[in-house]
Amino acid sequence: MAILTIAKLGNPVLRQMAAKVDPRDIRTKEMQRFIDDLFETMLDEPGIGLASPQVSRSIQLVVMGCEGDDGFPQTVLINPKIVFYGPQQVENWEGCLSVDGLRGKVTRPSVVRVQALDRDGKSMDFEATGLYAVCIQHEMDHLIGKLFLDRMTDMSTLTQLAEFDQYWRHDPVSAI
Ligand code: NI
Repeated sequence: MAILTIAKLGNPVLRQMAAKVDPRDIRTKEMQRFIDDLFETMLDEPGIGLASPQVSRSIQLVVMGCEGDDGFPQTVLINPKIVFYGPQQVENWEGCLSVDGLRGKVTRPSVVRVQALDRDGKSMDFEATGLYAVCIQHEMDHLIGKLFLDRMTDMSTLTQLAEFDQYWRHDPVSAI
């Protein structure tokens, strides 16, 4: 396993459309090792999600996982599609491993239904809510060259990390 280098804001790879993964490649040793490396890199940071373009490989693959009360299981999504968005919108603080030291409020649908392949190449179809739904949408944005900054509607909430801890950590909408 290896810790991969994370592409940071300004790196053009973060602005590209990621290519589909050929399902026949999913079970190869190389791809399985790459998925393990993505998890290791995510946990090392630490983060709760990491998209393949963030390690300069522009393919439609994301990993995520978060322990704790509002957590969700370790998940691999390959060639994911959101096939349903719930009608309710929720506001959450988001940050990104490619955007050092900043947090900002983003409003997104509270429920999504996702179809994707898992790390064995099997089809998944599930609904996610809460932090899981936020993370899925954030990570899938990376596959179309979007960052949470692009999704912010009120840039006045943009906050540096120390100030987030000082003033906003206990904000009721603070999910991350
Ligand atoms: Ni991100």
